[in-house]
Amino acid sequence: MASATITVDPADQVAPVHRRLFGAFVEHLGRCVYGGIYEPGHPAATPEGFRQDVIDLVRELGTTTIRYPGGNFVSGYCWEDGIGPRDRRPRRLDPAWHSIETNEIGVDEFAAWCRLTGHELMLAVNLGTRGVLDAIRLQEYVNHPGGTALSDARAANGSPEPYGVTMWCLGNEMDAPWQLGHMSADDYGKLAYRTAAAMRQLEPGLELVVCGSSGSQMPTFGEWERVVLEHCYDVVDYVSCHAYYEIRDHDLGTFLASSLDMARFIATVATTADHIKAKRRTDKTINLSFDEWNVWYVDEHMAATQTPGGWEIAPRALEDVYTLADAVVVGNLLITLLQHADRVTSASLAQLVNAIAPIRTEPGGPAWRQTTFHPFAHTSRLARGVVLATRVDCGTYANATYGEVPLVDAVVTHDEATGRSALFVVNRDTAQATTVDLDVARLGVTSVLEAVTLSDDDPFAVNTAEQPDRVVPRPNPTAHLSPGGRLSVTLPPLSWTAVSLLAASDKEA
Ligand code: AHR
Repeated sequence: MASATITVDPADQVAPVHRRLFGAFVEHLGRCVYGGIYEPGHPAATPEGFRQDVIDLVRELGTTTIRYPGGNFVSGYCWEDGIGPRDRRPRRLDPAWHSIETNEIGVDEFAAWCRLTGHELMLAVNLGTRGVLDAIRLQEYVNHPGGTALSDARAANGSPEPYGVTMWCLGNEMDAPWQLGHMSADDYGKLAYRTAAAMRQLEPGLELVVCGSSGSQMPTFGEWERVVLEHCYDVVDYVSCHAYYEIRDHDLGTFLASSLDMARFIATVATTADHIKAKRRTDKTINLSFDEWNVWYVDEHMAATQTPGGWEIAPRALEDVYTLADAVVVGNLLITLLQHADRVTSASLAQLVNAIAPIRTEPGGPAWRQTTFHPFAHTSRLARGVVLATRVDCGTYANATYGEVPLVDAVVTHDEATGRSALFVVNRDTAQATTVDLDVARLGVTSVLEAVTLSDDDPFAVNTAEQPDRVVPRPNPTAHLSPGGRLSVTLPPLSWTAVSLLAASDKEA
């Protein structure tokens, strides 16, 4: 059996565990909204038509912030279509996903869902086919207390209290040729600057996210961020990053190393932002909003959805069925986000229900947890306090894309207030188990509260409506503390593990 050593020092802290790292993304795409969170005829529907079974799963998933309503969808969206009496809302073509938008759900209904489920709402404005005026009108509708046509319209539509949305995305993926209204970095930088400045005239305290690259493979990656930030540095707070990973050419080894790309992506964007910071001689730091990330079998799906025609209401689109291997990668990407919490202070798993999602539903039928649900839910629940700089000494495997890839990746969080620590760790070795050793004496750890592992004999095992619990985390009985304060835990081949640890001084002990 292989072995690995993990080292942490409680004084060597990366950053607080920002709750916004556990955000998700809800787009009007396929059956994410219609048939996902909203299905009025369903036996489990609330009076507002929201699926209660989905709400229960979302609460268990532990998502914190929701980015809405797109995505590519937002670049063709008129938010006014989605307010007021439902019978007067227009049906529109959604050019992004070749479907029909009924507008049954709009910003008021979605804000109500967020209130019901305890999420912070993060809105995106349309800078693809609209502009400054549209953005500030939406802002007025959403955030102004009252006494104007738009804020009074919100009250008349059932919400006298403003929604108080602080985080706003200035468009979506404007670097991408597939984006409606796609433009050059220079054009977008100017438009984003004007929009941000106008939005700040209404509310100076907003947190604004400017579009970064749609992926590290984009031809303009790096230069896009530089040019856009040259225009916008003073008026925005975040630059966005988007990344999706999948197995290509049956190359599992490259796929399992996806987090190396994410780490490089973060470092590159942070460095680019800091370059502008230096040029401007400012103390202001731009952080990263990793507001779309996941495993997505995009190659397989895009051909189907980009084909003109279709134009259905809420078609089955991008309904990936996730494997154990996918869940290990998702768990690893969460480890990477935590490792970089000094710069990534907000993130959104894309998406939430049905479309590239941890939760699946059937119309009139069940809702269930995909494999990827589990690492997210446990990490959101257990990662508290601060992230500790986590060093892993382990073997490597050779990979054509990434060179020598560590077989083990891990991160440790520590919460001084409760005395709890947590270890999140993946074993990328598909053939061999690994025993991990972590010195927890300086964290004051005296007991193992919980140790769970997600693994399976079949790397491609999935959960389905018929077998929703085929792949679930199971207690890992190998986790134990030695008298000297060392934690040892054995990780099966291709697995994700979380260990929750307790210090004796914990009041709850
Ligand atoms: O999440 C699916 C799509 O991926 C989003 O609409 C878009 O922003 C990205 O390309």
